[in-house]
Amino acid sequence: MCGIIGYVGPRPVQGILLEGLSRLEYRGYDSAGLALQQPGRAAAAVLKAVGRVDCLREACGGRDEALGLGIAHTRWATHGEPSEANAHPHADASGRLLLVHNGVIENHATLRAKLLELGHVMRSQTDSEVLAHWVGRFYEASEIAVGAARLRAALDKALELVRGTYGLAVMHADLPGVILGARLGSPLVVGIGQGEHYLASDVSALLKQTREVLYLDDHEVVELRADGFELGHRRGVGRVAATCVVDWQAQDAEKDGHAHHMLKEIMEQPQALENAMRGRLDFEQGTSVFGGLNATPGQLRAVTRVLLSGCGSAHHAALVGEHWFESIAGLPTEVEIASELRYRQLPLMDGTLHFAISQSGETLDTLAALREVKRRGISSLGIVNTVGSSLARESDGGCHLHAGPEIGVAATKTFTSTLGVLAMLALHFGRLHRLGPAEGMLWVRQLQALPDLMRETLCCHAQVSALAPRLAEAQGMLFLGRLACMPVAMEGALKMREISYQFASGHSSAELKHGIIAQVSEQVPSIFIAPHDAVFEKNLANIEEVLARRGPVMAITTQGGGQALRQLTDAVIELPACHALLAPLLCILPLQLLAYEVALLRGCDVDKPRHLAKSVTVE
Ligand code: AGP
Repeated sequence: MCGIIGYVGPRPVQGILLEGLSRLEYRGYDSAGLALQQPGRAAAAVLKAVGRVDCLREACGGRDEALGLGIAHTRWATHGEPSEANAHPHADASGRLLLVHNGVIENHATLRAKLLELGHVMRSQTDSEVLAHWVGRFYEASEIAVGAARLRAALDKALELVRGTYGLAVMHADLPGVILGARLGSPLVVGIGQGEHYLASDVSALLKQTREVLYLDDHEVVELRADGFELGHRRGVGRVAATCVVDWQAQDAEKDGHAHHMLKEIMEQPQALENAMRGRLDFEQGTSVFGGLNATPGQLRAVTRVLLSGCGSAHHAALVGEHWFESIAGLPTEVEIASELRYRQLPLMDGTLHFAISQSGETLDTLAALREVKRRGISSLGIVNTVGSSLARESDGGCHLHAGPEIGVAATKTFTSTLGVLAMLALHFGRLHRLGPAEGMLWVRQLQALPDLMRETLCCHAQVSALAPRLAEAQGMLFLGRLACMPVAMEGALKMREISYQFASGHSSAELKHGIIAQVSEQVPSIFIAPHDAVFEKNLANIEEVLARRGPVMAITTQGGGQALRQLTDAVIELPACHALLAPLLCILPLQLLAYEVALLRGCDVDKPRHLAKSVTVE
């Protein structure tokens, strides 16, 4: 949440900051701001605007000759409404120190009260401004000679006062060649260029400039100059700063001719799934192979229970995974919403293996769940898209999705890639326990066939578009499915809610008559996810119940289910045949497209839905 970019080097700063901000906008987009420090100037130029980065670009007025350094921020409001005063960068009392901050300062009220007592005048409602004032206060009072060491010491002292999380960048007019960065619980990455350096909250902001990066760890502080950087640790011994090269390309984060990132990401799902499966399907042994589980076959065989945790779409993917671990591997499996797990009295049995799922790898709740489960001695692996993310680094091992950057706020390709990884993991454990090689081989073939089946499925786009107007003006809608398609119903409803703002809820169709049916009316359509599987007839009976109450019905099915459904409703989308357990990977695609088309009809900003941000790094 919120995005940070900083630059120090020989090129004009403003354009680099604006370009970085526009790539970070998916992390928060209610206001934006930047500060430029030119050598010889008494104070930095600060520009802020409410709204999107384009509003800030307009406020900047196209001038870009400023050399020196700069920091910039795009905000997702936590403390105080979106306004120019609350937008970052925030200044200290002198106006010569500027700071941008991601995260939450939990004890900001106490720290603010002390500042007010000391006579400071605060200009915003934010927790971040409080931090800027404390750093500035310590800087002014310091006896250390003017220089980076003085700013570093002041920052250290201020951070000692703070309870909460931060990823931040600070600059001072006294130091026109230095940016300081610090991290605790909120990601920060250094980008390494030729005679120039960057600081960002997310590698997407850097892809156009450099792919050589260094991820900061918690409690680390970095001093950035054009010709190098120095890494320090606030609590202990520093480490050798090993940089790495990101394998994402700048164009991966572009729209590639599509109207929206979300549509591009929906359409690239077959390729993303191929990437997730590449080198992981073993056709000889009829199993899957993973390089990063960091456990021997014997240790994995000793696993007797699986625990899956995640938030939002990651939680829904886990619910699908639960069916697979149980049906394919025969392993008792539990799913916990990561945000609840950390506060629950969860009995954790010996022999449990935990998978924490997060595309960003930065979701605070999922990280907290991981830490709690690890603290209790349970081995915890990550299923993560973002290489170098906190979750990837803190887990005991795991698997990357290799889906490339996902920019649309709504998770699409990372949802199906997560499903692909979970299915392969279930197969891996199945082959360790109860599946013979022949059965294993059948699963390998089923998985291998999926990307092409997804390509075929995506051809339903025109059919979906034709159905969208029926939902655009509805009072609300129900998404209903059973077994592994119940979480698909939940995910379909989440997509609809988050990007079209239409009220939608997802349930087991078996639960209809236990209360949900009370919602059915002519204005509340029901969307059934009813693949041609063992419970198809049960879904048909549920559809009849809805129709008997004049509820409009749409149905997604797989080959073989179309005929029976078309006798009940004219709104049927029939997808290719696939194994019943794997149907979620196909059935979710028309639901993503449906949410997309309904959102367009309602004039919503598909890639940046209101109130949301891509990565939820606060509690
Ligand atoms: C999905 O469309 C949402 N944007 C949201 O529910 C998301 O899945 C959730 O916040 C978890 O994100 P993560 O995968 O980055 O942890």
